[in-house]
Amino acid sequence: MRKKIVAGNWKMNTVISEGENLVNGILKRMNEVKNATVIVAPPFTHLYLVAQLLKGSTIRLSSQNCAAEDSGAYTGGVSAKMLISVGAQYCIIGHSECREYYGETDEILYVKLQQALKNNLIPIFCVGEVLAEREANRHFNVVRVQLENTLYRLNDIDFEKIIIAYEPVWAIGTGKTASPEQAQEMHAFIRQTLSKKFGAKADNTSILYGGSVKPSNAKEIFAKPDVNGGLIGGASLVADDFIAIATAF
Ligand code: PGA
Repeated sequence: MRKKIVAGNWKMNTVISEGENLVNGILKRMNEVKNATVIVAPPFTHLYLVAQLLKGSTIRLSSQNCAAEDSGAYTGGVSAKMLISVGAQYCIIGHSECREYYGETDEILYVKLQQALKNNLIPIFCVGEVLAEREANRHFNVVRVQLENTLYRLNDIDFEKIIIAYEPVWAIGTGKTASPEQAQEMHAFIRQTLSKKFGAKADNTSILYGGSVKPSNAKEIFAKPDVNGGLIGGASLVADDFIAIATAF
């Protein structure tokens, strides 16, 4: 079964008191969410506290990244094992901002996927093209290669655990959303590409859309058959907006 999922990627926002308020605001209205699994991805510094706040709720906890290594002399690194130990259950891997600002290549991302999976962190794996690639009509090729370099190399058992987020880079934080048709077209392409390697298992993969999802556009995007939810940045920082999106199915 494809699960419906709404995940909030806080990025590098909120100090701890603001994070606490945000989680409490979401918790207060969680009874309204009937159809979706809700995940929050606060900064590393907040994970332990947020894990305590979420105890007894259905909200799941994700980190925004993990190290490619197990442990050792990697100053600044945070390993998958550390993340599990503070209560994270998911890990965003391959966000376009990490690809761009931290130089994370497909090869590094493949290693991170293995690290996460080995430690029982569920990857939320991001793919997507930049504007110039879409304008040159290369977006399908770009996403296909991203998938072939990473998820194609997983075994069937690991593949079944993965959540995918399609995030066209030109739509992230820009206010410019892909149209529901553009999202559906790419999501169907991703599923079809994955089915070439994993067969019918790709039917069960949740593929989230990310890029300027707001309460005003979530419903029409989520209505598309191959869109199984969203990875939400800016709008996940306002509890009421995040809840409005999580109830937009
Ligand atoms: P946005 O970010 O919703 O602010 O566009 C989405 C993301 O980068 O995950």
